[in-house]
Amino acid sequence: MEQAVLVLIKPDGLKKSLTGNILTRLSETKLEIVAAKMVRVSKELAEEHYRHLKDKPFFGEIIKYLQGDLHDRKKVMALVYWGKDAITKCRTLAGATNPEEAEATSIRGSYGRITTSGVYENVLHVSSDDTEAEREIKLWFKPEEIIVDLYATKSAVLKDSPVKAWAEK
Ligand code: TYD
Repeated sequence: MEQAVLVLIKPDGLKKSLTGNILTRLSETKLEIVAAKMVRVSKELAEEHYRHLKDKPFFGEIIKYLQGDLHDRKKVMALVYWGKDAITKCRTLAGATNPEEAEATSIRGSYGRITTSGVYENVLHVSSDDTEAEREIKLWFKPEEIIVDLYATKSAVLKDSPVKAWAEK
């Protein structure tokens, strides 16, 4: 089945200079990258992304983690991969959530760690299933930032909402 999946290279992955390694590992899947950008993560975006974990004791820490507060890197790299069985392929390469339990050769097994305060720093996020992938992709990307039509769109005219444009030289 053709699927789309959201992949985030988290602030620890960026700080450890792992972007190239992670993209190379993911390229083994032969999936297509159909969107990619750097994002400065607001508290609102982080909280919405992890809303299913709102009641967990570590919620506050993973919000700070995704926002880059723990790594002095206030950004993540967001990508959408697309193709056959994209979710299983990317999650298999990523490895288990807990880096100590992740297969040693997986991305999280190779580069993740558990901090002394107990946060799983596992260098990347991969959507867990189709429903979550659609919710997360729509949360992180606008339709025009994705080079294929993944989901139904509508035309919207945004009134009185100024946008930044390049200034004349
Ligand atoms: P979760 O959505 O359960 O896992 P995954 O990212 O593999 O889909 O958890 C979100 C993040 O929360 C996870 O990447 C790392 C962190 N986390 C902890 O720090 N401690 C935990 O006990 C769990 C379950 C997650």
